[in-house]
This record gives sequence, structure tokens and C-alpha cells, in this order.
Amino acid sequence: MADAREVDRPRKGAVHAVSATDAPLLAVDALSVHYGRAAKAAVDDVSFTISRGDRVGLVGESGSGKSTLASAILRILPPAATVKSGRIELDGENLLALKPAALRSIRSTRIARVPQDPLGSLNPVFTIGRQLSDVVSAHRKLSRRERTTLVEEALRQVGIGDAAVKRRSYPHELSGGMRQRVMIAMALLNHPDLLIADEPTTALDVTVQAQVIELLRERVENSAMTLLVISHDVGVISELCTKVMVMYGGRIVEQGSAADVLTRPTHPYTRSLLDAARGKVTTYSPEVVA
Ligand SMILES: Nc1ncnc2c1ncn2[C@@H]1O[C@H](COP(=O)(O)OP(=O)(O)O)[C@@H](O)[C@H]1O
Ligand SMILES: [Mg+2]
Repeated sequence: MADAREVDRPRKGAVHAVSATDAPLLAVDALSVHYGRAAKAAVDDVSFTISRGDRVGLVGESGSGKSTLASAILRILPPAATVKSGRIELDGENLLALKPAALRSIRSTRIARVPQDPLGSLNPVFTIGRQLSDVVSAHRKLSRRERTTLVEEALRQVGIGDAAVKRRSYPHELSGGMRQRVMIAMALLNHPDLLIADEPTTALDVTVQAQVIELLRERVENSAMTLLVISHDVGVISELCTKVMVMYGGRIVEQGSAADVLTRPTHPYTRSLLDAARGKVTTYSPEVVA
């Protein structure tokens, strides 16, 4: 498909930059985030790195701090949250120090996200074509016709075949699965270096979850995208990821290759998470193990 190659082409220099350096794409160092006056940190002294081409799964139970960590990287923490300490570097640049204009310029071109709730992330009063087109024109000067071509190609790439018709749809006219396909198209439009997907299928019908995961896997692999995907679902992580980080109580308690962590977990919490995924009920109680 000629149009697919067109959109997949990496940005100039990106490939050479990869081989020229082993420096991580994303480096999070001693990051702590608190909400309000809570004594306990939601993200507690977290450090890790992500290299280009890694597909990292962040797994952990609800409330373990996964979304807070993702929001800190994306600089979309709610007002109640404070970054108490730490650094977040993208290609050596401290994201926490970026001013709003600089942040706008890296959003979607360097870091993009697939949200949990596609409906809440789309504007109900504009067509999806218009919203996709706006994402392109925020960063590139193109004619209306060029933008339409890009938008239609992007929609086709996420499996929306009748793109010329569908781009005129309003969000409410599409199914949940279709809307999430649109969000994936939107996230990939400007070829970001890092894609962050926070529970990308949680809001979808079970029947379409597998299709959306497969689409995400195919798009990420085809464009050699670096991925950080968050899920409480070990199945989703094992489908998509080469590496896994396990979060518990605001901390990363285990990390390693997906093959190691998912087959030979060392931390008791990871073991109980995997048992739960297999339908075996075990509970992890830190008091007992500590
Ligand atoms: N807006 C908020 N205000 C106050 N506390 C919050 C807020 N969002 C999350 N928290 C708290 O921070 C902790 C981590 O939450 P979160 O990052 O959403 O976890 P996860 O995504 O793993 O479910 C939880 O204890 C949660 O109650
Ligand atoms: Mg969450």
C-alpha cells in the first residue's frame, strides 16, 4: 500500500540518531509525585529508562500510580498533583522544566498519547477529519488538500477503509472501537518518538479490545515506534511489549524483559498478578513478605 509507506517514513535523521547513540530516549530519575497534602506519594522515587524501539508495558493494580506516572511524563498532571522531586528527560531534555510553548511544540511530534476514554478526548462539535487535520496543521504548514490526503491515509492505516466518508463523521456517530482507532491515528499523525497509551482498551467492549490491541501492535511495529503502554491487564502487556515494569504502591517493584518478568517473576506481587491473570486467586500482602 503506497499511501501506508508515505505516512510511515521516519523523520529525517531519526534513524541515524538511533545508531549514533545509546543514550535512552526517556530517562525518569527519582521521580516523586504527591496529591494535595497526602503523606504517601502516588509515584514514589521512581527511576527507569526507555530506549528507542522499546515497547514497555507498565502493569499494576488500580491505584498503584501508573496514570500519575504517565501524566507526569506527558505534563498533564491535574492541579492537585505536585512533582516533589526528580527529573524526566526526553533525549536529555528535562521535560519538567519546559515552558508551555516548548511543551506544545513537542506534543504530538515527540510524545503523543492514546487516552483511555476516546469520547472524552474528542471534541463533540467537530468532525473527526477536522480534528485530525488540526493536529497536522498545529505543526506543519500544508495546503488543505495535502492535509486531507494525510488524514485519509491515517484513517486507512487504522483500518477505517471508507476514510473519505468517515472523516466527515462526528465522534458520537462512531462506535467506541472506531473512536479509539481515530485516537490511534491522531497519536501517530506527526510521527512521535514516544507513544504513551494509558489503558487504551479498558473503555471498549470486550469484543473489540483484541482488535484495537492488534492494530496498535501492527502500527507500532510498522513504524518502529517506542511505546509505553499502561494496563492492569497482563494479557494486553504480553501482546504488545518487549519489556515490562511492575508498579505497586507508587514504586516500580520489578522490571525486565517481557519474557523474564511474565514467565519468571521475582517479586511476590508480580507473581500474584500473574496468578490472577490465569484465574488463580492468590493475594499479595506486603506485611507478610517484608
Ligand atoms: N486527582 C487526584 N487527586 C487525588 N488523588 C489522586 C488523584 N488521582 C490519583 N490519585 C491517587 O493517586 C494514587 C495513584 O493513582 P493513579 O495514578 O490513578 O493509579 P493507577 O493509574 O495505577 O490506577 C491513588 O492512590 C489515587 O487515589
Ligand atoms: Mg490509571
